[in-house]
Order: sequence, then structure tokens, then C-alpha cells
Amino acid sequence: MAWNSWTRKAAATIGSLALIGSLAACGGSGAGGGAGAGGGEESKAPEDIKVGVAMPTETSERWIADGKAVKSQLEEAGYSVDLQYANDDIPTQQQQIDQMITKGDDILVVASIDGTALSTQLQAAADANIPIVAYDRLINGTENVDFYVTFDNYNVGVQQATSLLTGLGLLDKDGKKTDKKGPMNIELFAGSIDDNNAHFFWKGAMDTLKPYLDDKTLVVKSGQTDIQQAATLRWSQEEAQSRMEDLITAHYAGGKTKIDGVLSPFDGISRGVITALSNAGYGKTMKAGLPVVSGQDAEIASVKLIEDGVQYATIFKDTRKLATQAVEAVKAYAGGGEPEANDTKSYDNGKKVVPSFLLNSDIVYKDNIKSLLIDSKYYTAEEVKAGRSK
Ligand code: BGC
Repeated sequence: MAWNSWTRKAAATIGSLALIGSLAACGGSGAGGGAGAGGGEESKAPEDIKVGVAMPTETSERWIADGKAVKSQLEEAGYSVDLQYANDDIPTQQQQIDQMITKGDDILVVASIDGTALSTQLQAAADANIPIVAYDRLINGTENVDFYVTFDNYNVGVQQATSLLTGLGLLDKDGKKTDKKGPMNIELFAGSIDDNNAHFFWKGAMDTLKPYLDDKTLVVKSGQTDIQQAATLRWSQEEAQSRMEDLITAHYAGGKTKIDGVLSPFDGISRGVITALSNAGYGKTMKAGLPVVSGQDAEIASVKLIEDGVQYATIFKDTRKLATQAVEAVKAYAGGGEPEANDTKSYDNGKKVVPSFLLNSDIVYKDNIKSLLIDSKYYTAEEVKAGRSK
């Protein structure tokens, strides 16, 4: 039996508890009901369905690309879209979601800032029978997340560490161990501690680096090998730069001791780290002595740095494909159904295991920028050359 959300909202308005109970039973878990046609109930045309899209910040290019892709693909499918950015400010995002609910948005797609700070909002959404799709970042501590679209975040961490090991010459391009010996000095950066993804990236990376740390091929001179010590609140470039400066001062004789590599989980953090390193005299390019630095998101500024031999690698997560999965989930809810998951084990948010759709990612090195990013039309050759997207 498929009930649509308008029927549900009407039921909620008349306040029939029994009816609400039976509707909830139809809808399966959490808020996940259908927002569209089903079972001969009243249905809405896509253009009458409004999708609220809550994005974290416009300071990082990655989320601008996500917002654009989600909006345009939803509009192509005929939906109207209410896209909001929250400036990386938690109260702003809470308020935006509150407003989406009171304005009557029918389905929400949410990329959270703090994955634990939206329980009140999501309860209100559930009470209004609004399906919630978590976008890229899992929302924790609430029953009211219906679906999760993301990448295989543990594997992203594995790829970040793999790119670092490759850059250090410990692995060849086919992922095979070389006979290069250590010790080599590395430092470790993690993402924002309140972002569930940061923990997955860290775990994937640390599991991959562990054998090299255990046998002292790799040495973290600062001793900061705990995610709490390595974390970078809000993934801030400035904070990363300042932590790298402090590390250089305290553990690398202000720039006189060699640093071979830095694990970075995000291109913005990579650029902060690179600035600190080159200001401290490590050189402006890897050829001139700059350590190997990893990254994530294939942000255009970092792709240019990779092209120029400054940053070593990044991870490409095709935001167009992620947007498509979000739109698929919206369509399923709009049609009174449930989206199709390809993972029902990995993402436990503390209240439930959220059915998820995971996408794959790729490591970008200088020699595959063209095949991964330009041939797929993610960027044009001109954009890569300029280090700016149009
Ligand atoms: C995303 C990453 C991104 C980071 C910073 C994470 O939740 O998964 O792709 O680099 O946030 O914006």
C-alpha cells in the first residue's frame, strides 16, 4: 500500500492518532513515506513538489558543484527546488531546515554541517511526513533519516593513503610494494570531527598506513596519530595552515628537518598545508623539495597544483553522479516508493543503520587528469590550465 504525504499531512491535521499510526506502519521506517502518487490517492505533478536542498557552505568549491548539480538535475526532472547554503554555521542550517518544513517543502536533501545537530529539525520533518535524504554526510543520532547517498568513504581514506604511499615511492602505480626503505617523516591531518565522513576517511587511511608506521618506515615526529589531535574543525584551510606551521616549529626545527609527506583528507586542507610548508622553506614544488601531499575532491585549484607539480594527488568524487543518486531517491519518494540501496550495513547512525547508495571514487595524479577530469567533462582543459572553473 502506498500513501502519499499529502494524505498523511491531512491525516496529521485532523489529528487522528489511529490513522497516523496506520499510515506510519505503511511507510516503513522513519519519515520515509511517499510524497507522490500511489494507491489511487491524490497525487502531485513533479512541478508541484518542492524539494528543499540544504548544503553546508559555499566557501568550498566542492559544495557549490554539488548544489548546482542537484538543483539542475531536480529541475530537469520537473521538481521545484529550494536550495540553501548555511555558511558552515550550524544555527543557520537549523533555521534553514526549519523554514523548509514550515514553507511546506515536500522532500528534503540535507548535507549537514554537524552530523549530530539536526535531531530537532528532522523530528519536525518526520512529524510532517517529509522524507529525508542525507547527502554525502550521514546525519547521526536520529531515526529520521530515510536514505543516504554518498561515496564509499572508507575506500576514499584508503585511496588517500595509497596516493601518499605512491608519492613517497613505497608503492608503484599498480599498488605494488617497491623496495624503497624508510624512515620517512610524515604528518597526518583529519577532517572535521563532527562530520561522520572524517572518521571513515581516517580509518581507511590509518588502516592502510599502519604496517608502515608499525615497522617505522613512516614516522610521525609530532606523535599526533590520533584523530582528535589531527582533526581540522570545519575542514578549515586556515586552521590546517596554522597547525602545519606549529608542527614545523615544534618538531621540524622550523623547517630544517625533512618532511617527506602529509596525509590530507581535503584539497582545502592540502592548500593550507602546502602554504605553510612552502613559507617555511620546503620549496614551491615537489621537485624543489615540497613534501608529497594528498587531497580530496578534485577542486579545480588543487587540480592545477597537481598539474604544476605542487600537490601530489587528490580523490575525484564525481558530484554529478552523487546528485543523480539524490534525484533518484527523490523520485522514489515522490512516487510513493523507497529508493534502492546498495549498502545496508555500513552506515549506523547510532539509532539505525541507514540504507545507503555508495559510489566509487578515483585517485587523480598528474598523469590521469585528462582521462578522469577532462574527458569526462568535469572540467575543461582551459579550466585546469587557469585553476578556476567558469
Ligand atoms: C566530504 C568531502 C569534503 C569534506 C569537506 C566531507 O563530508 O565527504 O568530500 O572534502 O566534507 O567539505
